[in-house]
Amino acid sequence: DTIINREAKEHVAREIAAIAKNGETIGAGSGSTVYLTLFELARRIREEHLHIEVIPASKEISMTCIQLGIPQTTLWNKRPDWTFDGADEVDPQQNLIKGRGGAMFKEKLLIRSSRKTFIIIDPGKRVDRLGSKFPVPVEIFPDSLAYAESELQRLGASEIILRPAHGKDGPIFTENGNFILDTRFSSIDDSLEERLKKITGVIESGLFIGYDIEVIVAK
Ligand code: A5P
Repeated sequence: DTIINREAKEHVAREIAAIAKNGETIGAGSGSTVYLTLFELARRIREEHLHIEVIPASKEISMTCIQLGIPQTTLWNKRPDWTFDGADEVDPQQNLIKGRGGAMFKEKLLIRSSRKTFIIIDPGKRVDRLGSKFPVPVEIFPDSLAYAESELQRLGASEIILRPAHGKDGPIFTENGNFILDTRFSSIDDSLEERLKKITGVIESGLFIGYDIEVIVAK
């Protein structure tokens, strides 16, 4: 992040954290913007003695909550009043690509479970066409690798990369014990998310087409 980017994100983080009301349950996605917002939320919880619980999208974000002293709960016993998250790409119709961090399954579940979702991005995330910069991440059950690859090719995938792990040999395993295929398509239409989900072995994709979200651009 550049310093300007960071300052802009911090500004939006304060705005989002300011929305939180006593007694609310809030879903938190993943990424640097989420981290900054949690920081502000923790400050408000401390200073204003608010009773707020967060449902984190990943273990990393859960650890951040622990470090910041933010109480947590789960989707088993609560639904978020609202959720905040980042994105990797946003098109003019507010469709998204997410999943750089590999947590898109839980992020999607949080957004689906929430009445309201804020997606916080910097201007660089805006694209005319989804897939311009980022591939579409597809989380698959490991045993389905060969089958899923051939089905993705049938849907028009021009490149499929099994996401490698950093610092160890072999692929990344998601928190759900699955693989991620970073997949390029020459064109992404409105039906692709659904068609990906229909492949047996596909847990979820990083395409978010037509979701009820509010995009906030940090400027
Ligand atoms: C995580 O899986 C992604 O969907 C993130 O939301 C995305 O990478 C945003 O990250 P930043 O807030 O760091 O830009």
